[in-house]
Amino acid sequence: MRIAFGADHAGFELKTLLAGRAAELGHEVLDLGTSSTASVDYPDFGYAVGEAVASGRADRGVVVCGTGIGISIAANRVRGARAGVATDLFSAQLMREHNDANVLGLGARVTAVPLATAILEAFLITPFAGGRHQRRVDKLDAPPPSAQGESR
Ligand code: RB5
Repeated sequence: MRIAFGADHAGFELKTLLAGRAAELGHEVLDLGTSSTASVDYPDFGYAVGEAVASGRADRGVVVCGTGIGISIAANRVRGARAGVATDLFSAQLMREHNDANVLGLGARVTAVPLATAILEAFLITPFAGGRHQRRVDKLDAPPPSAQGESR
């Protein structure tokens, strides 16, 4: 798969390690930055990865900030991107099986490198279960009018 990676300054080092692991596993890496530990704004990189995945330029995305939360919120503002934060293997598997998540959020200040690596691997190998979950995932791209703000 082609996997887009994005991070802010807090996530830069973990993003670099995980992109290396993805390449080792035979995936194509699309590194959308940031490229150092200099302070940047996480939404810029969450949007970039969300857009890459939603447009089909990448099959999956990985976003890393201090907690994984802010950058995942940004990715989720892109229609078609489905980002979830995982701090454990079960969540990584279930976000694929049930939610067909296409973007993985990780927190570099929360999750140590060995567990983050295992979470990445689970995210990459676990298929979407489909079935009853497909209808629910379809609804994620079709919020009711009452849930749609002016920006949508
Ligand atoms: C940056 O200090 C920090 O706020 C950011 O990496 C992230 O944790 C936000 O959600």
